[in-house]
This record gives sequence, structure tokens and C-alpha cells, in this order.
Amino acid sequence: MKTQEIPTPALLVDLDAMEFNLRLMADFFADKPAKLRPHFKNHKAPMLAWKQMRTGAIGLTCATIREAEILVQHGIQSILIANEITGDWKTDRYAELSRHASLLVGVDHPAQICDLARAQRKYGTTLQVLIDVDSGLGRCGVKPGEQGVELATLAKQEGLKVRGITGYEGHLQPLPPGPERDERVHAVCQDLVQTKTMLEAAGIPADIVSTGGTGTYAVCGSYPGITEIQAGSYLLMDTQYRDRGAPFRRALTILASVISTRGSNHAVIDCGLKELSAERGLSELKDLPGVTLKALHAEHGLLQLDTNSGPPLEVGQKIELWVQYSDATVNLHTSLYGVRNGQTEEVFPIIH
Ligand SMILES: Cc1ncc(COP(=O)(O)O)c(C=O)c1O
Repeated sequence: MKTQEIPTPALLVDLDAMEFNLRLMADFFADKPAKLRPHFKNHKAPMLAWKQMRTGAIGLTCATIREAEILVQHGIQSILIANEITGDWKTDRYAELSRHASLLVGVDHPAQICDLARAQRKYGTTLQVLIDVDSGLGRCGVKPGEQGVELATLAKQEGLKVRGITGYEGHLQPLPPGPERDERVHAVCQDLVQTKTMLEAAGIPADIVSTGGTGTYAVCGSYPGITEIQAGSYLLMDTQYRDRGAPFRRALTILASVISTRGSNHAVIDCGLKELSAERGLSELKDLPGVTLKALHAEHGLLQLDTNSGPPLEVGQKIELWVQYSDATVNLHTSLYGVRNGQTEEVFPIIH
């Protein structure tokens, strides 16, 4: 199918750009002690997860039990849930999945440890955990150092297998590359590695220290003692990360149709908030200078054309918009069309 024939609105990935991103990341890690465990939540496409595995990833990171389940069902054998889970329903599923693959999950509170220990007894499997350390994002995680050791000691007493540390310096991802950002990232890495060393001194052997995103993978991935990186957005790359200076090529767009025009400066497309996230700003148009997305309604996008915008848009015309925030946009779709030279080469199912 020609790209122009794909029913709209549709999520497209430029395969040349995606393959460039895949290779750039794989090449970075090829000679590093640290390895990539890319974040699945970004694309939710098992076929893309396998492309990442085949180019050197050691497993996948994900955010939810459901994502872990999808990965196990698609044959991924090593999975980190870089998040907390509680309650019998989730911890039972975690224990069940742990029978089929090597799973890791973050903990930052005794209550999660309690729930996991109960599931472990019920299922008779050894459950693995990482101590989640707050790297300054202010979301989940214990303070680095002694708090991490206390929690790891409790987890060990409860019979869980503590494998190490997980963090995520999400608050540093938007910083422009440069010495100031690097210094702050180094401080985060130092805290994580130090906490791991403290676990070992307390008799809890730990072999994993995981952190890093698309903005910080190179700094974290070069820091001694960091063993794996959780970056996810790099593969499809959005405008948000392009603006932050990440060295990858934007690959993700939405294909939309013009459904209405009025005069020479107003057009409406069949793509709204239900297909395109505006959470981190409104999308830029691809290859249409002088045309701006002014607003997104539920099922409509409103375009404004300025006087330099070239020929007027026609009803029925197909246009492409760059994706501003890939995490929140991919999630709105069930298929990702892989395109090259104006043709659809592959369709990647997005599994929910
Ligand atoms: C815990 C965690 N790790 C890694 C990532 C991936 O980061 P990025 O989108 O920078 O690739 C995220 C994204 O929000 C995250 O929440």
C-alpha cells in the first residue's frame, strides 16, 4: 500500500529514521560494560522490541504488569518493571509471569515487599526485586544510601531476591546537553552506584544498577558501575526530544486528511486529541512551511495557513504531523505503519 492510501488518521514510522536510531543506540552500547534494556511503554510493539533485542538489548523495561505480560507472551525472557506494584491481583500475576521469564520489579515500601512475599509463598517461585531509589524526580523511590539498605534487608528477610538498584532521573531529561547537565547526571549515578555498594557491604549481593533515558543514556551508560539503561523514546523519536538535543532522527508522524477548508487560511484535519497527544505541546507539520496546528478538538485538528504557506490545502489532501510526545501518542493507536519511499513496508501491531 502506498503511504498516501493508508486510511487516516494513522500512525507512521519512517523506517530509515527508525533504523538509524536503532543502529546509533546499538553502536553506542556495543563496546560498553553497560547495556541497553529499552523501555517498552514507548512503542508497545513487540515486533519493535524484537528489533531492539536483535541489535543488542539485554531485555526490555516496562511500566506495568500488563506490559510485562505482553512481553512474556511475545517471547521476551528478561523484563524489568521499572515501577512499583501492590495488591494481590498484581503480585499474583507477577509471580505467575516469573515462572515463564526472568522478571524484576521496583520496590520502595515495606507494603510492596509484604505483598510480593505473600505471592512468592503462594506460587513457590523466587521473586526478584530492585530497590527503587529516587534520583531527584520526586516520584517513587527511597532516598539513596541507608534507606535503600534498610528496604533491601527487609526484602531479603522476607525471602525475596534483591538484584540491585533502579532509578530514573526524569527531571534531568529536558536539560540541554552540556557539562552542567552531565555533572547532575553523574551525581545521580554516583548515588545509585554507592547505594548498590552499601547493599553489598550489608551482605546483599547486587549485580544490577539501572537508570537513564533518551536524554541521558550516553552519560549514564558511560558511568562506571551503571549496568543498564532504560531509554525508550530514542527509537521513534519525537519533537520533544529533538528540541532537547538528543542525537536521533524524528521517525514518528501522524498521517491525516484535510476534511474541510474555509477561505485561504483555515483547514481542518481528521485528527484530534483521540489520535494525537497535546500533553507537551501542539505538533509541527511535516514539509508544510507556513501551516500551523492551532488547536486539537476530540476528533478535529484546526490548521492555520499564513500568507507564505504555498498552495492552499485541498479537501481530501493527506498531510503529516510530527509527534510532539511519543509516549502519550502511540498509546492512542493499535497499528504503526512502517513506511519507506512512499510505500508501506510493514505494519507493527501496538498491543494494549
Ligand atoms: C522509569 C522510566 N525509565 C525510563 C524511561 C524512558 O525514558 P525516555 O522517554 O527518556 O527514553 C521513562 C520514561 O518516562 C521512565 O518513566
